[in-house]
Amino acid sequence: MKIALGSDHAGFELKEFIKHYLEKQGHDVKDCGTYTEESCDYTDFAELACAAVTEGKAKRGILFCGTGIGMSIAANKIKGIYAALVDNTFSARMTRCHNDSNVLVLAGRIIGKDIAKEITDIWLATKYEGGRHDRRLNKIKDIEKKNMK
Ligand code: RB5
Repeated sequence: MKIALGSDHAGFELKEFIKHYLEKQGHDVKDCGTYTEESCDYTDFAELACAAVTEGKAKRGILFCGTGIGMSIAANKIKGIYAALVDNTFSARMTRCHNDSNVLVLAGRIIGKDIAKEITDIWLATKYEGGRHDRRLNKIKDIEKKNMK
């Protein structure tokens, strides 16, 4: 799968770890930065990685910052991005089944590498269930239309 990654300095180490993990599995990874541990703004990398998703250059995106919160807030301001901040495997599954999230957000300063791998595996493999959830996702899209010009 084509996957775009983006992080700030606080998510850099986890991004690098997940990048190598995904590449080893044969995924086509587009690393949108940051590329060093130098302090930077998570917003810039949220925009770059999310643009890859909305422009169809990547099917999904994964973002990393310290808490995951800044990246989530920034990503969810972008039309067509449905970003989920996840720290457990149940939520990883549910956000695909019920929310059809296209961006996963991981907190580099909170979660360990093993749980990050498990969350990523589940999130990438789980299909959206559709059905009653379509109605809710359409309502999210209505909110988007009303609030994003
Ligand atoms: C960076 O210090 C930190 O604020 C950022 O990584 C993130 O946690 C913001 O929400």
